[in-house]
Amino acid sequence: MTNKKILIIDSDAASRNFIAHKMQELGFEVIQADSGKEGLIFTWRDRPDLVIVDPVLADIKGEDFAVKLRQDARTVQLPLIALSSDPNLARVRSCQEAGFDEYITKSGQAVPTLNDTINRLFGVTEEAMKKGGLLIVFLSAKGGTGTSSICANMAMNLSEVRPEARVAVADLVFPIGSISSIVGYKGEETIVSVADLPAQDTGPDFFRRTLPNMDIWRFNLLAGSPDPESSNQLKVGRIWDVITAVKSSYDYVLIDIGRSLSKITLPLIQHADLVVLLISTDISTLPLTGTLLEYLKNKGVHSNSIYSILNRSAGLEGLSKTDAEKLLNIKINASIPYLGTNFAFANSQHQPFTLKFPNDTASIIFRDAAREMAALARKLRGE
Ligand SMILES: Nc1ncnc2c1ncn2[C@@H]1O[C@H](COP(=O)(O)OP(=O)(O)O)[C@@H](O)[C@H]1O
Ligand SMILES: [Mg+2]
Repeated sequence: MTNKKILIIDSDAASRNFIAHKMQELGFEVIQADSGKEGLIFTWRDRPDLVIVDPVLADIKGEDFAVKLRQDARTVQLPLIALSSDPNLARVRSCQEAGFDEYITKSGQAVPTLNDTINRLFGVTEEAMKKGGLLIVFLSAKGGTGTSSICANMAMNLSEVRPEARVAVADLVFPIGSISSIVGYKGEETIVSVADLPAQDTGPDFFRRTLPNMDIWRFNLLAGSPDPESSNQLKVGRIWDVITAVKSSYDYVLIDIGRSLSKITLPLIQHADLVVLLISTDISTLPLTGTLLEYLKNKGVHSNSIYSILNRSAGLEGLSKTDAEKLLNIKINASIPYLGTNFAFANSQHQPFTLKFPNDTASIIFRDAAREMAALARKLRGE
């Protein structure tokens, strides 16, 4: 654990130097800031692996500091610890709500507690992200491209072709998720309710026990936000930990991101083993897909970790596979034909397309694509 960098922000020089010294003893590289403003600059400029903040700062509130970090894609998942002389529960709560991962009070036990917490946060955020199950995200440039339906159907087919694997689907489309309505889930547990629980209660074990099994769909579901109001209540800062924990209990985690590309979902896309891109055959949507591809490239997503599916969701008209490949300058991995109203019909009855229409060619395409997608994700992980 030597090359990790920790930023310590505290307006009280004696306290800051003491903690800095202890962290150096533990083998960390330490940088220090004496105000929130300086802390923000150092965080974004020097890219520490973890930040320890006394929330009682001379210039800004620690809570505001945390909110600023959580609103920025670069630091949305950065481990953040409040080290405070205020033991008041209201303060603990407001810091957690603002996005702090942990709240530790300054006492004789502060240093050992800090040490444990740091080890755990580093363990959870990095090693588990690398080690856990394979993360496959589903994206599109525009709604109505079939992202959610295909995500659910691919997950079902993946479970069929790899019966020994544990498959979970997480719905991260905001403000309203739609996997629940496709698979017919009516339960209360959603990404919003789960993110509201304290971090220590939502470890890997929690998700192994509680994620409901979707029966004929053969996967476990972390349902999406049921409505915009719930979406507004979402504790954004918890998403990273939640997905990391789900990943450590399942072999494959498929996330429907849809077109909700945001600061919340970008780090997950960047850490995904495979990005499944749904491409519409609608000519007017093509430039949007081009923009999305360019964006992903700029964010460090390699073209060989993109699995692209051309989906003729809008009808028989539109681009051919060759047109799309030429115009976007990519290889299309799978193409799904227009399925008329059958797809919507299967969805509305909460049934996988493959079960409802086993003899349709699309059922074979789904199965082959699921197999290929899983193999590619494993290969990219180096398995
Ligand atoms: N290949 C297809 N053929 C016919 N209808 C499709 C096809 N793909 C998707 N659809 C329909 O398009 C609609 C939008 O699909 P959905 O999965 O909700 O898209 P998104 O998640 O990208 O918004 C649904 O009614 C679905 O049944
Ligand atoms: Mg959708």
